Amino acid sequence: MDNIVLIGFMGVGKGTLARALAGKTNLYAIDTDDLIESLTNMKIKKIFKKKGESYFRKLEQKTADWLAQNVKNSIISTGGGFYKVKNLKDIGTIVYLQADFDWIYDRITKSKNAKKKIKKRPLFKSYKEAKALYNQRVKEYESVADITINVENKKTEEIIQELLAAIKLS
Ligand code: S3P
Repeated sequence: MDNIVLIGFMGVGKGTLARALAGKTNLYAIDTDDLIESLTNMKIKKIFKKKGESYFRKLEQKTADWLAQNVKNSIISTGGGFYKVKNLKDIGTIVYLQADFDWIYDRITKSKNAKKKIKKRPLFKSYKEAKALYNQRVKEYESVADITINVENKKTEEIIQELLAAIKLS
């Protein structure tokens, strides 16, 4: 089986879905931000602060190269900007988790640990800035995806069923 690569904006639920899907399919879930943190022994927030965004993007590309060469049969969740790596399609089947910005914003800011979720995301500074980034990316997510799934107000189980059905058809 090809890897399943989940892309989409910050806070849409890529990591949560990857782990749920892994549990269901008996595959491993891997997260690109986790890989970058283990490679550098630094938190994402610290990498942005100490080294800057362009350095982080280079680490994403390095991670993409490693995944394409070494990982099979896995569910891969990605950071919100990972979709820009040049070999994305070599990693697996690309599934875009789509939702409107306001729904995502509420999901993050109204969650139990909202403070923590915002704090660890250097590019989620304010409603205005995050929305501008979303608007800039939304068409690109769609165009690199093999499969797009709307996740708004859906239970994880529902999204899993949709995703598995779509993958069988793709
Ligand atoms: C980013 C999203 C983050 C993380 C980094 C940059 C982005 O991941 O990779 O802060 O550019 O959208 P999540 O999508 O898991 O928040």
